[in-house]
Amino acid sequence: MKKKIILDCDPGHDDAIALLLAYGNPQIDLLAVTTVVGNQTLEKVTRNALAVARIAGITGIPFAAGCPRPLIREIETAPDIHGDSGLDGPVLPEPVLTLDSRHAVQLIIDTIMAHPPKTITLVPTAGLTNIALAARLEPRIIDRVKEVVLMGGGYHTGNWSAVAEFNIKIDPEAAHIVFNAGWPLTMVGLDLTHQALATPEVVSKIAAVGTAPAQFVLELLEFFGTMYKSAQGFDYPPVHDPCAVAYVIDPSVMTTRKVPLDVELTGTLTLGMTVADFRSPAPADCPTQVAVKLDHSRFWDLVTDALRRIGDVRVA
Ligand code: BDR
Ligand code: CA
Repeated sequence: MKKKIILDCDPGHDDAIALLLAYGNPQIDLLAVTTVVGNQTLEKVTRNALAVARIAGITGIPFAAGCPRPLIREIETAPDIHGDSGLDGPVLPEPVLTLDSRHAVQLIIDTIMAHPPKTITLVPTAGLTNIALAARLEPRIIDRVKEVVLMGGGYHTGNWSAVAEFNIKIDPEAAHIVFNAGWPLTMVGLDLTHQALATPEVVSKIAAVGTAPAQFVLELLEFFGTMYKSAQGFDYPPVHDPCAVAYVIDPSVMTTRKVPLDVELTGTLTLGMTVADFRSPAPADCPTQVAVKLDHSRFWDLVTDALRRIGDVRVA
């Protein structure tokens, strides 16, 4: 049985790779792709998502644009990591897919309510504005989804402040809603994704696929690598977002630990920190867990396998 997911994203180099992994993996049934302001403006990330769809030959899956700003805070984007377009590096084709006419929040709700209970996994790889609003607009989705597997946060480190990660920091109030909703939630945070480095061996494996979408990924990684080196001093870029998709495909690709989680909303230095309480064993009914240790080679094998399956799609 395939795993049904909705990918809520802000492409973004690693979001683009997450989309390719979700589309190319045979165990995933990608029901919808929704976008939200984050790495760049809503208009730019939505255009990027549609461009990636064209590069991979994705058709028959609804794409919808969501929130153009966070719930309360001003917009914060990440041009120092993703460039002015949000997906700098490769030349992007003009999109051919038409957006679904619904707001992303409505598409998320409609999709979840139209499927049997506990069959859909939400995979947010961006700020949590759309997901929080969906939970507020139609609270029945909280019991209805199977689980939420998100890229965001970190229990030992931050990247947008000393202790806060970008996806949480840009809309902490939305993250607070999502982390406290009570649905099963796996936080694939920086502790895990900083292990998903695109090393030279990884780049060679992707180059060996030898297709146009694989070439697109190489160009993404080249730009991403340069930016991560100059902005954060990484030798090889950490490719965050596909880690969340990989967990849905095969949870054994990483280890996890159950732990109560919350999001800091008032700290002067700690706004947007994801606070994990490791003081004692998590209660049996604790709905939250964190990803801890990645099997690096199996993770990248999933990515290269998905690229191989997508095939040599050529943009005419
Ligand atoms: C997260 O922030 C974004 O810039 C990336 O796409 C990823 O989702 C990493 O902190
Ligand atoms: Ca992202």
